[in-house]
Amino acid sequence: MIMTTEYILSEVKNGVLVITINRPDKLNSLNKQTIEELHETLVEAENLPEIKSIILTGAGQKAFVAGADIAEFANYTIEQGRQLSATGHFKIFNFIENYSKPIVAAVNGFALGGGLELAMACHIRVVSDNAKMGLPEVSLGVIPGYGGTQRLAQLVGKGKAFEMIVTADMINATDAYKWGLANHLTTQEELLPKCFEITSKIASKSPTAIRTAIKVINAGYNNHVNGYEVEIEEFGKSFGTGDFKEGVSAFLDKRKADFKGN
Ligand code: COA
Repeated sequence: MIMTTEYILSEVKNGVLVITINRPDKLNSLNKQTIEELHETLVEAENLPEIKSIILTGAGQKAFVAGADIAEFANYTIEQGRQLSATGHFKIFNFIENYSKPIVAAVNGFALGGGLELAMACHIRVVSDNAKMGLPEVSLGVIPGYGGTQRLAQLVGKGKAFEMIVTADMINATDAYKWGLANHLTTQEELLPKCFEITSKIASKSPTAIRTAIKVINAGYNNHVNGYEVEIEEFGKSFGTGDFKEGVSAFLDKRKADFKGN
């Protein structure tokens, strides 16, 4: 049982944990406490085998997340700024990217600065037609510090990433979809149903293989390892798993696989 906390609502539905960042009066901006609570929720969910995937969204009609909490960092020193970024990477952004279960961002409004960086750290993004996405940090005299300089270029290409970051422009949901920043574009009503459609497919597949696939895809974006070599090793290891035996037996027996995630 995952607890709802002050700023994080947690609800489990059919093996999916729906996490709602719940600070709507501040457009769900990420203060320290929200980051801590989100981290703790993710840590707890990782150890619950009944949770197969996560949907992450923002409370209210207006925003997914409107960035890091500007009021909180207004008087930070250089060292505090560095720490803000490092802690964020460790507890949320890299943590989500390397999470063992797929995380789908349901982008239901503004996704700005740390909010877009949060959506980009997720494995899959679905956006509703009222979404507005951008990295406006240079308007404040800072740069994106939660992975935005790296992940935006990976998703939309270097040219568009440069333009979005140096102009601080927001893009609408249609452009986000056209540019590959969003996997799917829906109406506001269809946003969560579309996310559940994706998570229901994930739920019937091998958790072990999914965890490994996330690891290997990410390896391709890590300059210190060779993604192809990691793939060879991990592909080989798959043959030693219970899920592999079950998946292949089920196929040969013409029945539905019942994966145990082992
Ligand atoms: N940090 C802290 N508070 C924020 C915030 C953020 N990133 N984004 C919004 N808020 C707060 C506002 O200060 C306001 O609080 P208040 O009612 O106590 O004054 C409340 O959320 C509502 O925002 P508001 O600006 O009144 O809404 P709007 O519809 O006029 O504008 C935005 C919406 C998203 C365009 C605007 O809030 C904005 O530009 N936010 C900052 C985005 C940003 O630069 N993010 C990157 C941070 S690194």
